[in-house]
Amino acid sequence: MTVEIDLSGRVAIVTGGGQGIGRAIALRLAQAGADVAVADLALDRAQAVARELEGLGVRSLAVQADVTDPDSARRMAAEVIDAFGQVDILVNNAGRWTIKLFRDLTPAEYEAEIRPALFGVLHCSRAVLDNMTARRQGRIINIASDAGRVGEPFLSVYSAAKAGVMGFTKALAREVGRYNITVNAVAPGTTHTPGSEEFIARAGGEEKLAHAYPLRRLGQPDDIANAVLFFASDLSSWVTGQTLSVSGGYTT
Ligand SMILES: NC(=O)c1ccc[n+]([C@@H]2O[C@H](COP(=O)([O-])OP(=O)(O)OC[C@H]3O[C@@H](n4cnc5c(N)ncnc54)[C@H](O)[C@@H]3O)[C@@H](O)[C@H]2O)c1
Repeated sequence: MTVEIDLSGRVAIVTGGGQGIGRAIALRLAQAGADVAVADLALDRAQAVARELEGLGVRSLAVQADVTDPDSARRMAAEVIDAFGQVDILVNNAGRWTIKLFRDLTPAEYEAEIRPALFGVLHCSRAVLDNMTARRQGRIINIASDAGRVGEPFLSVYSAAKAGVMGFTKALAREVGRYNITVNAVAPGTTHTPGSEEFIARAGGEEKLAHAYPLRRLGQPDDIANAVLFFASDLSSWVTGQTLSVSGGYTT
């Protein structure tokens, strides 16, 4: 007997899907049969990933979106519903971060840090919820970070925002469970992506950093995508409000 994950007939949006962890998530959901909208600030990157998805035989759509702007988030959801008729899965993955001591950050800089990490999750979740509640079906998966559990020096405001994402995950799960919508989060540890190159270099390189992890390696985007696939699938239908660390045992 084999266990299959079949997402055919489901429609997913992956924010920040143009590279790194978001790209891996988009590919994994498409490999399971979902139609996937790739939303990113950088339209060219979203288009390149959408083309990769088409090669897997699913429908895909590239959407230019800025998750920090509530109007842009609403337009993104409308564009996807227009094209595919529904949204079943939202993966709030888009993010960016600045590596600086808190005392060196200006208020404008720390607001800019919170906007994608926390407000982006709120705006995009709000934009898809009416469609999900009306259809009594939905999966919202937030990409948090183990920085939000342990508090990462040089990433203080980012850590605060990611802790906020975990709190929001729990509260929203309680609000929307009655509509058969689950809300969960995945908290990666340091994972090889274009966005994490600078952090890995400034932390002393891969080998040094890997010693902090019981499994003695950094993450690959597919490690995170596999956990997202679980939360997107029917295998997790009685799991909600949870944050799963996918970080080689960094937080135990
Ligand atoms: N890579 C890591 O080590 C790591 C660790 C923990 C958590 N995370 C989280 O994983 C997620 C993905 O990280 P990554 O390393 O793949 O990043 P990345 O920088 O490699 O890719 C992020 C993508 O998001 C897009 N993006 C950024 N701001 C956006 C916005 N306002 N609207 C729409 N798109 C936007 C970028 O254009 C880019 O394509 C982030 O939420 C990040 O906080 C990453």
